[in-house]
Amino acid sequence: MADLSIDLAGIRSPNPFWLASAPPTNTGYQVQRAFEAGWGGAVWKTLGDPIINTSARFAAVNFNGQRVAGFNNIELISDRPLDVNLKEIYETKKRFPNHAVIASLMVEPTQYKWHEIVKRVEDVGVDGLELNFGCPHGMAERGMGAASGQQPDLVQAQTTWAKEVATTPVIVKLTPNITDITVVARHAVKGGADAISLINTINSLAGVDIHSWNTIPHVGGKGAHGGYCGPAVKPIALNMLAECARDINVGVPISGIGGISTWQDVVEFMLMGATGIQVCTAAMHHGFRIVEEMIDGLNNYLDDKGLTSVHELIGQSVSRYSNWGDLDLNYQVVARINEDNCINCNKCHIACEDTSHQCIDMLTNAEGKSILQVREEDCVGCNLCSIVCPVDGAIDMIEIENGMAPMSWNDRQKMIGSLNNSYTGAEVIG
Ligand SMILES: Cc1cc2nc3c(=O)[nH]c(=O)nc-3n(C[C@H](O)[C@H](O)[C@H](O)COP(=O)(O)O)c2cc1C
Ligand code: SF4
Ligand code: SF4
Repeated sequence: MADLSIDLAGIRSPNPFWLASAPPTNTGYQVQRAFEAGWGGAVWKTLGDPIINTSARFAAVNFNGQRVAGFNNIELISDRPLDVNLKEIYETKKRFPNHAVIASLMVEPTQYKWHEIVKRVEDVGVDGLELNFGCPHGMAERGMGAASGQQPDLVQAQTTWAKEVATTPVIVKLTPNITDITVVARHAVKGGADAISLINTINSLAGVDIHSWNTIPHVGGKGAHGGYCGPAVKPIALNMLAECARDINVGVPISGIGGISTWQDVVEFMLMGATGIQVCTAAMHHGFRIVEEMIDGLNNYLDDKGLTSVHELIGQSVSRYSNWGDLDLNYQVVARINEDNCINCNKCHIACEDTSHQCIDMLTNAEGKSILQVREEDCVGCNLCSIVCPVDGAIDMIEIENGMAPMSWNDRQKMIGSLNNSYTGAEVIG
């Protein structure tokens, strides 16, 4: 069995599975039960000055029978007294010395406030700190959370203030509500961040009730934007992770968060550069015990791949994530329908006919059976037919050897540029 333990910027935990700062990590009781269930670490529900929460505060987006495809919340940071949280962190750490307990922090952007809270939480024995610059609602109106996280200079300054007194590793948690996450990531690193974590939740409104015309959720008939998370945000999180992982000016370990609910998701995040991962929505939807499947699945996967440590996964796919301009324009795939598996539902034909390149023909074979066939010379390899096909293995996307040398858009522009440079008026006239 492979070694699942990780070391994220000096924070050690028995496995890469951490609970994210959120309702599952609100109390010592919960975090200790989570550790008993198998979680390797927990980022405590964000600590700061006392707040008041609204009721209601959660909403889910269900899609085509899938419950909680996305999750929306307007909850703020911890509504429990700091002293109570600190006492429970101390007790939890004492009972689970080898598990990672991280304190998530959010205070006003002043040096004094950061110094004070960092010292207080480190006194009770946390393994690290996570600075929460991501909460998109409620705290932002007071100049904290995403309001801080959207200003690179403020992220840098606050990270510096935390680092001035911190003796444990400092992780900076980034907001996705920004155009280019690497800008803020770089500023966090300039401020001294030992690691970054991403993503926090994405600005969202879960829905509008078409009967009452109220927002979902609403608080006495009024709504406000919340933060979106859960399976729906995974592709957004993965892209932001990849952007940071491949940026040489970031260059610190990353804790990956956003839509993770299976061991396969964990593998994807680690391949794309995460040293460890954090989970919130999946634990809220299915309970702490989902970690059992994650541990088993990851163990089996590593064994199948012949890997001895989960560390061997970290970043293996980063170099495969590139800019569009570097992709090979001469690489070609075409769709091929496998008659043995096809159930003749025609979905692929309709998709290609109505919204792609009209190259799936409806034919009749020698036995008089209707079949579908792709005219490969007209197929642009868009993948749409294989995406809409309900049967695994009915459509394969096949790589075609077209004899053309690789050429990216950037190569092409360079070539055109050099042709233009060698082009003279005399040649035109002559
Ligand atoms: C109800 C709720 C409350 C949250 N509270 C916090 C918080 O206090 N601090 C924080 O850093 N992130 C908070 N988050 C964000 C999560 O830690 C996490 O970044 C986000 O939910 C994405 O992960 P997921 O898709 O696994 O849920 C909260 C999320 C939810 C759903
Ligand atoms: S890959 Fe695209 S173009 Fe080719 S057959 Fe399928 S839908 Fe049509
Ligand atoms: S969508 Fe798939 S199963 Fe349906 S006709 Fe096309 S290949 Fe066959």
